[in-house]
Amino acid sequence: MSRILIEMKGICKEFPGVKAVQDGLFTLEEGEIHSLIGENGAGKSTLMKILYGMYVPEEGSIAVKGQTYSSLTPKQAIGLGIGMVHQEFMLVREMTVLENIILGFEPRKGGRIDRKAALEKIEYYADAYGLRVHPDKKVEEISVGEAQRVEIIKTLYRGAEILVLDEPTAVLTPQEAEQLFCILRSMKEGGKSIVFISHKLQEVLAISDRITVMRGGKHIATVAGSSTSAPELARLMVGREVFLGGSPVPAAKGDVALSVESVFVPGEKELSKLRGVSFSVRKGEILGIAGVNGNGQSELAEAIAGLRPVQRGRVVLGGVEVQNLPPRRIREHGLSHIPEDRNQRGLDRLSDVKENLAACSFTEAPLSHFGVMRWGKVREFADGLIRSYDIRPAGVDIPASGLSGGNAQKVVVAREVSRGADVLLASQPTRGVDIGSIETIRNELNRAKEAGAAVVLISSDLEEILSLSDRIAVMFEGRITGVVDASEADEEKLGLLMTGGGTHV
Ligand SMILES: Nc1ncnc2c1ncn2[C@@H]1O[C@H](COP(=O)(O)OP(=O)(O)OP(=O)(O)O)[C@@H](O)[C@H]1O
Ligand SMILES: [Mg+2]
Repeated sequence: MSRILIEMKGICKEFPGVKAVQDGLFTLEEGEIHSLIGENGAGKSTLMKILYGMYVPEEGSIAVKGQTYSSLTPKQAIGLGIGMVHQEFMLVREMTVLENIILGFEPRKGGRIDRKAALEKIEYYADAYGLRVHPDKKVEEISVGEAQRVEIIKTLYRGAEILVLDEPTAVLTPQEAEQLFCILRSMKEGGKSIVFISHKLQEVLAISDRITVMRGGKHIATVAGSSTSAPELARLMVGREVFLGGSPVPAAKGDVALSVESVFVPGEKELSKLRGVSFSVRKGEILGIAGVNGNGQSELAEAIAGLRPVQRGRVVLGGVEVQNLPPRRIREHGLSHIPEDRNQRGLDRLSDVKENLAACSFTEAPLSHFGVMRWGKVREFADGLIRSYDIRPAGVDIPASGLSGGNAQKVVVAREVSRGADVLLASQPTRGVDIGSIETIRNELNRAKEAGAAVVLISSDLEEILSLSDRIAVMFEGRITGVVDASEADEEKLGLLMTGGGTHV
């Protein structure tokens, strides 16, 4: 039996009004990949932040390599070889990749930062694990996938032997996720121990030696990866049977609500530049946009929402040309947008939950009356959304910064869908959301469609695209390689279009 590196026992951590972790239990053996799973708000991130010294638990003990502590500081945790890549990136956007990696651990020579030594060390890890990064780029210029690679190198740079990855694959393309798994496996071979948090049960089953399930802050079970199954894990997480899937609701197609005509847009990367994208969506239908992430989907969403310049072509919303208008004006013309990145664009973390939920409806009746806020109505409105989306904890006054990742996502989805706009542009709407809530969000998208909205669903999850869409457009290298009717689509056909096969349209 391998050596036990970490043993957390009897851990309790409360936030005002919430028992985030109760009698928490977690052990990590040397050289294992141990997944930590559970619904949104189950306490996964909190438990791991306690290990990383970011929170002090009220009760419990943390034994690391045989030494017992009642709590750790981040400095102690790093000193003990613990590294954590957070669910929400913690890099400084204005600084370069290199500066971020060495921050606080700068190698010095004659009193100055030894840039060459830093670069060599970064390149060593980059090569050893295939973590490609651009050391001199500013973090605000790099993709989320690269930001994550930077975070991983940063922990390795600080000498991590125990790596905690909080939902690392939520932001990755399937290829990048596959690469990450290779990296994790080779780290494991090299004797490193890994805690992996994810909502994707297939991934968890593929990579884990052991799996710990949490529910409502408590330890529910720890099982061997080889002796469990997705249905069993789902049942342990939710406490009831969960059914996923379902088939599309029939469309009642109305007028064209959004048309994108020969649009050219500059891209993050060469592959993701839009090169003449055209499609239209009618009221009462869901158009799915499938594709491997990084083929222009993010650029497309941003261009429609006014967050990225359109070089050439037109975006017509409800009969009005809106390309290159400010985002606010585009919203006024009838666009709701669930952005891919809930933290940068979706949520105001300094406001509370009710303010975030009501942000788009503040100036309208019944929430305001002749310019005066009616806070009673705002609470009522927010309360209704909290209930229908099962946002936890169910409090309208909770600061948005205290929400767990998946619950933050639910707030953004609830706010955007509830506006009842003519066009709903939903980018990766169920990213980071637990299986029960995926069901809720998918039902809400169907309801928006039934209420007459034109829905554009951008998702890298083929199963999601197939279960919701009426028509499916596939993007590859900044172009639409095909549009198929959902009734004629299957994974094989879409997969071919996603890799550039089939005819260009
Ligand atoms: N800083 C904080 N302030 C207040 N409440 C918090 C804070 N951090 C977490 N919580 C609350 O503690 C509970 C557990 O949150 P945690 O982030 O650990 O969940 P999680 O299992 O990581 O969920 P997810 O899958 O959505 O990321 C939630 O109810 C959350 O709202
Ligand atoms: Mg979390």
